[in-house]
Amino acid sequence: MTNYLDHLECSQCGAPYPHNVPSKMSACCGKVLLARYDLDKLGREVDRDSMPGRGDNLWRFSEFLPVEDPGYVVTLGEGGTPLLEARNLADNLGMKSLFVKEEGLNPTGTFKARGISVAISKAWELGSTGFTMPSAGNAAGAAAAYCARAGLDIRVFMPQDAPDANQKECLVTGSSLNLVNGHIGDAGREAVAVADEQGLFDLSTLKEPYRAEGKKTMGLEIAMQLGWRLPDTIIYPTGGGTGIIGMHKGFQELMELGWVEGRMPRFIAVQAEGCQPIVRAFHDGSETAEPWANPHTIADGLRVPGPFADYLILSILRETGGTALAVEDSDMVECMYEIATAEGIIACPEGAATLVGLKRLLGEGVIRTDDTVVLLNTGSGYKYMHLLEGAN
Ligand SMILES: Cc1ncc(COP(=O)(O)O)c(C=O)c1O
Ligand SMILES: [Zn+2]
Repeated sequence: MTNYLDHLECSQCGAPYPHNVPSKMSACCGKVLLARYDLDKLGREVDRDSMPGRGDNLWRFSEFLPVEDPGYVVTLGEGGTPLLEARNLADNLGMKSLFVKEEGLNPTGTFKARGISVAISKAWELGSTGFTMPSAGNAAGAAAAYCARAGLDIRVFMPQDAPDANQKECLVTGSSLNLVNGHIGDAGREAVAVADEQGLFDLSTLKEPYRAEGKKTMGLEIAMQLGWRLPDTIIYPTGGGTGIIGMHKGFQELMELGWVEGRMPRFIAVQAEGCQPIVRAFHDGSETAEPWANPHTIADGLRVPGPFADYLILSILRETGGTALAVEDSDMVECMYEIATAEGIIACPEGAATLVGLKRLLGEGVIRTDDTVVLLNTGSGYKYMHLLEGAN
C-alpha cells in the first residue's frame, strides 16, 4: 500500500515524533499524538474520484491510514456503512435533509471496529503481539474479535456491569476477560498496570495515535457519500470523543487537499444526564473537563467520566460553532423506538441520544430545519435488547 504517513505530532504543542516505533502519548506534554501525512504528495498522486469505486470498507482510504504492509491489515470488513437519508424522521421534524450514519452494521455491531482494526493492524506491524484493552464494553468486544482474527493475544478490562453482549463477545472470541469493580477509568488503571507488568501494548482510546485514524474514516465516508460536500452539522454521542476528533481530523485533511466543498461542519456532542463532563466544561467555558463523579447511564458507551482528550473535544466544539448537551436515559430509550418506527433503524441508546439532542436543538433554534444534519448511530440496538423489554 502506498503510504503517506509522515510523522506524529503532539496535539498540545505540535512537537514532531517519528512514526516508525510503537507510540503512546507525547513525551513532551503527555497528551494525544496525532498522525500527520504528506498531504501534498497524496494530493498529487491519489485521485479522489477513484475512491467510490474501491472495496466497500474503510481500507478504501488506505492512503489516509498508517499501515504500510497489507500483510498486517486485520480486517473483518469494517467501515463502508450506509449514510441513510432519514426522510420520515425529517418529515416528522419539519427538516429538509437528515441522515443517519448507520455504524451498527460494522463487525461486532459498532463503530469501535474501525478504530480497533486500524490500531491493531499498525501496532502489529510495529511488532506488538499482545494487548490490553480497557473499555466501557464495545471497544473490548471489537478488540477481542480483531485479535482472534489475527491470532494475537488480548486481555480486556471492563466494568463488571458492562452489557452481557460485550462480556459474551469477549468470551466467545477467546480473550481473557477481566471484570473490574468500577467504571472505565478504573478499568483503564488496571489495564495499564498489567500492560506495564507484562510488556503488552495498551489500546486505551487516544493514548495511542491510531484508533482515531480508524474513526477518521467515518468522516471520509460521510464526505464521499454526500458527493464530497460536507454536512452543516454532525451530532455525535460523546464518551471518550475519539469519533469527534477522528471525523474532524478527516474533514480537515479533505479540506486541505481541496477534495470537499463547504465549511467545516459544526460538531455537537451529546452526553448522558448521569455523565456529562464535556457538557459541563463546555458551558463553564473551561478548556478541560473535571471528572464526573458517580457516572451512570444506560448508554454504556457514554459512561466515560474523565475523557483523556477533553481539551481536544472542547476546542473542536468551540472552533466549529458547535455545542454540547446532556439527555435523559428515558428519552434515549424513547428515541430508540422513534428511530426504529420511523426508519427501521435499530439503534443503540448512544445513537438514539443524538435524536434526542437534535429535537431539543431544533426546538431551541440552534439547528435550523434547512440544515443538513448527520446523526451518528454508533452501534446496533441488537446489543441492547434488554433496554427494550418492558419499555413503553
Ligand atoms: C455505542 C457507542 N457509542 C458511542 C461511544 C462513545 O465513543 P467515543 O469514545 O468516540 O466518544 C461508545 C464508546 O464506548 C460506544 O460504545
Ligand atoms: Zn507537546
